[in-house]
Amino acid sequence: MANNAGLIEVKIVKRDVVAEDIIALELAPAGGGSLPLADAGAHIDVHVAPGIVRQYSLCNDPAVPGSYRLGVLKEAESRGGSAGIHANFQPGQTVTISAPRNNFVLAETAPNSILLGGGIGVTPLIAMAYRLQRLGKNFELHYCTRNQARTAFAAELAATPFAARVHIHLDDGALSQKFDPATLPPAASGTHLYVCGPGGFMEWVISNAEKLGYPDERIHREYFNAEIDTSGGAFTVEARRSGKSVVVPEGKSIADALSEIGIDLPLSCEQGVCGTCLVDVISGLPDHRDMYQTDGEKASNKQMTPCCSRSLSPVLVLDV
Ligand code: FES
Repeated sequence: MANNAGLIEVKIVKRDVVAEDIIALELAPAGGGSLPLADAGAHIDVHVAPGIVRQYSLCNDPAVPGSYRLGVLKEAESRGGSAGIHANFQPGQTVTISAPRNNFVLAETAPNSILLGGGIGVTPLIAMAYRLQRLGKNFELHYCTRNQARTAFAAELAATPFAARVHIHLDDGALSQKFDPATLPPAASGTHLYVCGPGGFMEWVISNAEKLGYPDERIHREYFNAEIDTSGGAFTVEARRSGKSVVVPEGKSIADALSEIGIDLPLSCEQGVCGTCLVDVISGLPDHRDMYQTDGEKASNKQMTPCCSRSLSPVLVLDV
């Protein structure tokens, strides 16, 4: 189970190459016992090396206890996360993870669900498909990948009880098999959409869903690998509880600027996708640059993500 810091020691019990540049890791408790139950869509932090923590979605059937499974794509631009896992994580080794968290929650009572995965973004959707199948719900899983060699988990998906609901769309395949967002059910059907994949894929699916009239609350999204944009003028952050303030120049994050004056915030992805660093805003106008909060949450300006967001007002007062 998790220690006081919420961390868990696990052992790598299996490592498989499941596609070109993609491995699957199976993790079980290092000291025996059990792992916390994880809902479909959940992710964990994986401590890859000192100072390098990355988030990975769980792709196992959430109803089967005993281990977690991850799919890890070796990113071409890896800054040590996925490349470190590919190079160093071997069966038998012990690694530290967080307890599962879920920012990508299934609306289990929906009449219909469409799961849309781009590349390795399919992982949380596989867990969701297992869950929806057990609930006897109506759903489809659309998995868009570059080519056959990059299609992880294809054999597993073909062997599941929901194989007939899985549609694989290859970028290099015939036009007739490519995913066409115009074929999504009408918004009036009450269908919920779940989208996970690279930024361009997400934007493409989401903008088409919006054109079809899908409301924000029925387009569930999980981003990974967001680009951080630290451009813009300097501003001042006042850390009200700590009684300190700091000028945040262009090119530096609020979190880094605060750290330099001795205020260390909890950070994880540092890309605006996980929500770990969320802080309350007391006054000022944040320039939200994260992918974590919904449009409604951003508009309320109650909280902001200091790992990547900035300020539209000259002074931003935070409850830190
Ligand atoms: Fe993940 Fe800020 S650390 S959103």
